[in-house]
Amino acid sequence: MEKEVIGRILESTIHNARCEFSLGAQAGDPVTVKVGDTEFKARIDQLETTPLLGLQGWIIFLERPPRPPRAMATVHRGVVDMGGILFFGHDYRGNEVRFNVNPLFNHLLLVGMTQRGKTHGMLVLLEELTETGVPCIVFDTQGEFINLPEARKNSIVVEDINIMDLIAHLQMKRTIVINMLGLTNSVKASKFAALLTQFTVEKERDYAQAGNSDQLLKIPPTLIFVDEAEIYAPKVGVRSKRYGASAEAMTELAMRGSKLGMGLVASVQRVNSLAIDVRDNCNSVAAFRVIGRSNRMALACMAFFNTATLDRLKGLMKGECLVLGPLAGGSQTVKVRDIETRRAKNVNFEEMLGIVDGEATEFKPSIVLAEDGSIVDRFTSKVLATKTSRILDEDKRMFEATEGDGVLIRTEQLPDEILEEIRLQGKISELQGSGLSFETHISDEEQSILKKLREGDDRKIG
Ligand SMILES: Nc1ncnc2c1ncn2[C@@H]1O[C@H](COP(=O)(O)OP(=O)(O)O)[C@@H](O)[C@H]1O
Ligand SMILES: [Mg+2]
Repeated sequence: MEKEVIGRILESTIHNARCEFSLGAQAGDPVTVKVGDTEFKARIDQLETTPLLGLQGWIIFLERPPRPPRAMATVHRGVVDMGGILFFGHDYRGNEVRFNVNPLFNHLLLVGMTQRGKTHGMLVLLEELTETGVPCIVFDTQGEFINLPEARKNSIVVEDINIMDLIAHLQMKRTIVINMLGLTNSVKASKFAALLTQFTVEKERDYAQAGNSDQLLKIPPTLIFVDEAEIYAPKVGVRSKRYGASAEAMTELAMRGSKLGMGLVASVQRVNSLAIDVRDNCNSVAAFRVIGRSNRMALACMAFFNTATLDRLKGLMKGECLVLGPLAGGSQTVKVRDIETRRAKNVNFEEMLGIVDGEATEFKPSIVLAEDGSIVDRFTSKVLATKTSRILDEDKRMFEATEGDGVLIRTEQLPDEILEEIRLQGKISELQGSGLSFETHISDEEQSILKKLREGDDRKIG
């Protein structure tokens, strides 16, 4: 079968190659390149469009060829073959994305602003790992993992556990969720420190008694999940003494854990608030959407992120992430799959404050698509965005359905007087850098109009 040609090599080493691509190519696409008679798997890593040269970029070899392919060799579209067993989600073409377990023992960091899907992503991994018989210890910072046993039977929830019981459960390939909801951060941190330190000691003993024989190990390889890891291992400088022990325990895990069959899966909102040795020992990263210049700049402290990868983060929707490193065999954009575990109900502050039937819910700003393609406010007929006005790529993503009928509108495009009006009518939910967000409520019909806007973005996924 003739494979589709999607590019040509311009210059190459045995690690990566600079290529020109035809228009359908996307960062993250699997490709193959022939060297001699053998095909080698690679993945498109970065792409840039230049007016003079068209679409160019880099591929990274996933299988190392014996010598670089010659210049002008063709690059063919490959198949997604992660070969893994952990079903994590789909790529933008709808192909399943599966991960191997091994890279998790060299640690995974999930990073992204709140409400982007980090905890959800960790739950997906836990559902898959429990199916596969890989035991995990989950430090459940906010009580968000406590429903896992409803969905997966070889898992349990505890509030306290001693080290011997913990090990006994792990030996039965059970995942243990340690629910810490309701504790203060410093109590969470000292619980974490105590348990992880004891576990590390037991692991070291186990490796010592087993000598060189893996068969003699009594404690199975274990993955340790830590949601909101910056609580336990804040960066030196912002860390108070109380967090010294937990930070040290997590640093030990990140630096030496893989030798002892201990892997870390941690989430953080900002990579630069995490202890540097933890951050830098995570070989794979799952990055969710990040807005705001300062948040994006913060990511640049990790070698994973350059201008091209940071740009790719702008286009992500809730529940989508860019996975980088050995877990993804290079880089892979994923729409994370649904979970079977029940999530805790979303908190409704209006309900809690007793203003459900008050004015707050009366307000219904409306946005419609005018015939000429402009977006206008239905009530005031004011034009919010014209078809001809330049909408930045990022702004195309500003319309985002949230649960229920809510919608987030993020824009830097609105003229001052309209801004003021929305400020009066609506609720500003977020102020970030120069970008402003507004929370409004709109109908299904309006949502579909907004969706149309999104479809203009060719980096759309799924
Ligand atoms: N891939 C996804 N599919 C469906 N819903 C998702 C997905 N990712 C996140 N969500 C929903 O979005 C909300 C925020 O996700 P969460 O994982 O709690 O974010 P974070 O941990 O980054 O703050 C939750 O209500 C969750 O159910
Ligand atoms: Mg979370």
